[in-house]
Amino acid sequence: MRTALTDLVGVRHPLVQTGMGWVAGPRLVTAAAEAGALGILGSATMTPDRLRAAVREVRSRTDRPFGVNLRADAGDAAERVRILIDEGVRVASFALAPSRELIARLKDAGVVVIPSVGARRHAEKVAAWGADALVVQGGEGGGHTGRVATSVLVPQVVDAVAIPVVAAGGFRDGRGLVAALAYGACGIAMGTRFLLTSDSTVPAAVKAAYLAASVTDVTVTTKVDGLPHRVLRTPFVTALERAGRTRTLVRALRHAVAYRELSGTGARRMLRDGLAMKRGTDLTWGQVLLAANTPVLLRAAMVDGRTDLGVMSAGQVAGVIEDLPSCAALVESVMAEAQATLRRLASG
Ligand SMILES: Cc1cc2nc3c(=O)[nH]c(=O)nc-3n(C[C@H](O)[C@H](O)[C@H](O)COP(=O)(O)O)c2cc1C
Repeated sequence: MRTALTDLVGVRHPLVQTGMGWVAGPRLVTAAAEAGALGILGSATMTPDRLRAAVREVRSRTDRPFGVNLRADAGDAAERVRILIDEGVRVASFALAPSRELIARLKDAGVVVIPSVGARRHAEKVAAWGADALVVQGGEGGGHTGRVATSVLVPQVVDAVAIPVVAAGGFRDGRGLVAALAYGACGIAMGTRFLLTSDSTVPAAVKAAYLAASVTDVTVTTKVDGLPHRVLRTPFVTALERAGRTRTLVRALRHAVAYRELSGTGARRMLRDGLAMKRGTDLTWGQVLLAANTPVLLRAAMVDGRTDLGVMSAGQVAGVIEDLPSCAALVESVMAEAQATLRRLASG
């Protein structure tokens, strides 16, 4: 199936495995790329050295194109962009809108820039700054998420911008791909569905918690890091929501210290990142401090398997996923179902 996405990045199928912190490492990305999708490394939780090593590891295992997801607001975003350029990465994906300068640097070096957005005005802004395409994530999507549903947001953005749009939030199968194409998108991006594959390194106990969840077990909370975050509702998330302000801040401070070690971020850089994050928003310092909660709590689940102490970011679609196929089997079934759906629609 040829679309603007397959043409732009040179993948076989119009499918993206999104960058997920602690989840989308070299193994998952290689498996997605080999299956013919665009695999994207989640690098927000890696040190720059680890990012370089991860890129080289994927490159050594596949010659297919792949991407790297970055935090546009990170103080060392420019250094990370240099790594992408040095290492010849095909696609730069961004959580939050990248600056005009970062987009220009990447494009000058021939890297395809595909930011993720959750609102029309962000889509219009990065399109005007030269982004090549967009991942547009509706509110049912996992992780940090907006309030507008995919079924409303995707056609709204398709109408508002002139660049290709990849639909995200709530997708898992071929029917969804055809629906996204009908809205005017050029493909679908999936996070939760790729997390729930046999190629993902997420511990079995964590995968089991996702598989056991129903659609109403997936909730949005602002208590992890101050921003709306779609996660599995667990007793731990309920406890976070009940915790008073002081306990929340003490926990956040502890996590900020742990995050410094995990990400290799020095105290001055963290302060600079915090200032950048605060600027132009109405976040309090408490909320900025809370931002360190996400990588630390996500790691507890996704790496250490602590379903009791970690946060499990999840799309609503987790409630209807019941198996753990390989990436190859998943991609094959999505594409086969999409073709069958198109035939069914054509035959009236
Ligand atoms: C466990 C998890 C971690 C995530 N981490 C990131 C991240 O580091 N950067 C990012 O841009 N998006 C992140 N996301 C969002 C996904 O990239 C993707 O946009 C979203 O999962 C799409 O919705 P879906 O889960 O319904 O497929 C994460 C999502 C999940 C489920």
